[in-house]
Amino acid sequence: MKILVTGGAGFIGSNFVRYLIGSHPEHTVINFDKLTYAGNLENLRDIEDLPNYTFVRGDICNRPFLDSLEFDAIIHFAAESHVDRSILDSFPFLQTNVIGTQSLLEVARKRNCRMLHVSTDEVYGSIAQGLFTEASPIEPNSPYAASKASSDLLVRAYHETFGLDVMITRCSNNYGPYQFPEKLIPLVISHAVEGKQIPIYGDGKYVRDWLHVADHCRAIDIVFHKARAGSVYNIGGMNEQMNIEIIGSLLTKLAEKTGLDRNSLFNLLTPVRDRLGHDRRYAIDPSKIERDLGWKPETGFEQGLSETIDWYLANRQWWERIISGDYLDYYKTQYGERFNE
Ligand code: NAD
Ligand code: TYD
Repeated sequence: MKILVTGGAGFIGSNFVRYLIGSHPEHTVINFDKLTYAGNLENLRDIEDLPNYTFVRGDICNRPFLDSLEFDAIIHFAAESHVDRSILDSFPFLQTNVIGTQSLLEVARKRNCRMLHVSTDEVYGSIAQGLFTEASPIEPNSPYAASKASSDLLVRAYHETFGLDVMITRCSNNYGPYQFPEKLIPLVISHAVEGKQIPIYGDGKYVRDWLHVADHCRAIDIVFHKARAGSVYNIGGMNEQMNIEIIGSLLTKLAEKTGLDRNSLFNLLTPVRDRLGHDRRYAIDPSKIERDLGWKPETGFEQGLSETIDWYLANRQWWERIISGDYLDYYKTQYGERFNE
């Protein structure tokens, strides 16, 4: 099968492309990515010359260009993904997350191909107690979550209206290698190493469920190959943490691993004005995917966090090139100026 993976140069997408190439040599992967600020081809340096991998730069909103490509199925990661940016300017979120998804659905409809849509637990909104299931109402609170919820509804509508072979996955907060250093865990690690202030939004007692990206990739693979058309699956880590707990663990582990002074690291913590509309708690019930498809998370959080710190310490150049902006040149040196807008 020729699989079009959208957003394959981003955090989860690049982990998934590497996973798919390794676990399914029978498939060919086309990594289709616009290379926004969040796309980084350096994430895939180790596999870029493999015969069953191709990179194509393009925008998922460009339907004629998508129509011109040859593929049999779509796994759709491409999105604007950062809540804080969606509060500053929501237009790129609506364009890519809603219009882009709709354009992919149209392309999939024309060739009647399977499409897995990667969504988020944030579409359910915030929950004080208990867990969201796939049957919970969709009540997004941030512009990012609202754009993802809109795309979920379009995916559902294309199944109901046209019988399209689609599935939706809603995962919790991912962590692991290649995460862009604007998100909490890589931001804390990179700021701590560089001695920069670490912003804590509000009281820091916000709760997220954390899932290692490798567990997420395995879940997507299983859903893509085994799930029924029209199905929705929550993919969660059953691992709730308050932000201040995570930040504390990160700094303690960093001090142990690097010899940096623990107190100096904790002195970097800086309470800042809270995010507008900040969701207090996300928590999802992943028992449906365990029951139906036999998936459950395998990475223990302490071990996953420790390995993630090791990765960021060993790959300092990777995130320094992001902070300096040098990573943006990699595409040009590899592929020239070509860009199919
Ligand atoms: P990311 O921001 O790291 O990567 C997004 C990728 O999409 C980038 O490579 C970017 O260049 C590409 N892209 C953006 N707009 C595009 C467009 N118009 N056309 C083509 N490519 C475009 O995001 P991520 O963290 O890897 O998230 C991947 C998916 O998983 C997203 O759909 C996101 O909503 C979802 N998700 C992420 C998390 C998380 O914790 N990171 C949690 C739940 C759901
Ligand atoms: P983030 O990684 O942006 O993911 P999301 O908002 O999609 O859950 O943020 C995770 C949590 O960490 C969220 O409650 C906001 C908080 N946060 C901080 O306290 N400081 C920071 O610098 C960042 C980036 C996030």
